[in-house]
Amino acid sequence: MEENFEKLIELALKAREKSYSPYSHFKVGAALLAEDGSVYSGCNIENASYAPTNCAERTAFFKAVSEGKREFKAIAIVGGMAGETSLSYCAPCGVCRQVMIEFCDPERFQVVLAGNVKDYQVYTLKELLPMGFGPDNLNETGKE
Ligand code: THU
Repeated sequence: MEENFEKLIELALKAREKSYSPYSHFKVGAALLAEDGSVYSGCNIENASYAPTNCAERTAFFKAVSEGKREFKAIAIVGGMAGETSLSYCAPCGVCRQVMIEFCDPERFQVVLAGNVKDYQVYTLKELLPMGFGPDNLNETGKE
C-alpha cells in the first residue's frame, strides 16, 4: 500500500496541473483509488459566480461514481498557491468529507495529505470526520 501512495500522489500532482483556479489561484489535485485498483483524478474547477466551484476531491469522486465505481480505498490530495515551490498539506473541506462518507467506510478509507511523493501523512476518514452522518444513519447501503 505504501508504494501505491507514492504513485497516487504522483497522479494527484499531475491532476493539479489541470486546476482551473483563476480566482483563488489555489491549485488542488486529487487521485482517488477505487477498490478494483483503478484511479480517478480530479482538479478544482472554479467559476466566475464562485458558488459553483468544485473541489478537486469531488471532481475525482464524481468522475468515478459516474463511471460506475462505488467502492474506494484511498485518496491523495495536494494543494497550494500557484507558483509555490513547496506544498503544505491541503486538508479536504467539509463538503468533500461529506461526499467521502457517502461512499466510503470511515474506518477504512485513507486520506493521504501530501506535500510531495516522499512527504505525506495518512488519516482515516473517521479521523477527519468523527461522528459523521452517512448512509448508515438512514439505514441505506449506499448501493441501491
Ligand atoms: N479546494 C479544493 O479543491 N480542495 C480542498 O480540499 C480545499 C479547497 C479548492 C476550492 C477552491 O477552488 C480553492 O481550492 C480555494 O478554496
